Amino acid sequence: MISFSRPPIAWLEDIPSFVDGDKNIDRATVEAFGDEWTRFDSFSDGEIDFVAAEYFDILPAEKLKHFKNAIDVGCGSGRWTRFIAKHVDFVDAVDPSEACLVARRNTADLENVRVSQASVNALPFADRTFDLAICLGVLHHVPNTQEALTSLCKKISFGGTLLLYLYYDLSNRSMPYRLLHRASEIPRKIVARLPHNLKNLSCDLLAMFVYVPLIGLAKLTNALSKNLGQRMPLHYYTNKSWNIIRNDSRDRFGTPLEQRFSQIEIENMLHTAGMSNVHFSSNAPFWHCTAVKS
Ligand SMILES: C[S@@+](CC[C@H](N)C(=O)[O-])C[C@H]1O[C@@H](n2cnc3c(N)ncnc32)[C@H](O)[C@@H]1O
Repeated sequence: MISFSRPPIAWLEDIPSFVDGDKNIDRATVEAFGDEWTRFDSFSDGEIDFVAAEYFDILPAEKLKHFKNAIDVGCGSGRWTRFIAKHVDFVDAVDPSEACLVARRNTADLENVRVSQASVNALPFADRTFDLAICLGVLHHVPNTQEALTSLCKKISFGGTLLLYLYYDLSNRSMPYRLLHRASEIPRKIVARLPHNLKNLSCDLLAMFVYVPLIGLAKLTNALSKNLGQRMPLHYYTNKSWNIIRNDSRDRFGTPLEQRFSQIEIENMLHTAGMSNVHFSSNAPFWHCTAVKS
């Protein structure tokens, strides 16, 4: 197990905490995630494997098994920590929110996982420690994504790999799709500011009365034409469980800060952070990519 580069400043139950005044953190967003992952706190291994096939299409098990020390930054419930722990030697999972308690519970049966409370700009590890870093759906929720990415990439050893997922800017989508998305920003900005209970109820209602009908329409269109079906809003969810749909509705509408990036922007940010060999998956979720520390 790797030693921390500085001592914890506190303990959250048995979890070492290193969260101390990081400026590149949106406190309302982190608090919202603490609540979200406490609600969506369990995933079956089958459910994890099913969705992991999409994120890890460009980093399959044959490649994962070669890594020794991995870090999962912004681990949330710990679902991807659990997934990669099957393949790599050891995983450090970090999250600044109370989700780390959930991640700890969800990985309690795994001896090769350690969970800590920490944020991306203040990771308590020496530079060039990890030969694999994963950061899925996290850095679009911090105020300065480039700064966060640079800080994370410093912790990767030369030749090490990063698997990154950042929300896409929809530039590969049609105008009606983009307009629909822009319209969804209005409820998002309102719902994200509601108190937790009201926010959770609103997100469930959105899942039921917006997601489900749109997914139904995507399924119907898919049956008529696969090509057209794939271009329908929320097509991504046509094969997802109700649990995932509810969780993602809460993720999308309940989070105060989200940013979106084009492929070129992501590639440029990665180069600035000292990474090369950027490889984007051509499949959803957009955009997820791998890069190598040079
Ligand atoms: C959408 S969730 C993704 C969780 C997990 N990676 C997954 O895909 O299941 C985003 C996570 O990023 C964490 N997060 C937010 N700001 C962060 C920061 N500055 N440093 C590290 N993690 C952060 C949140 O607490 C939350 O758990």
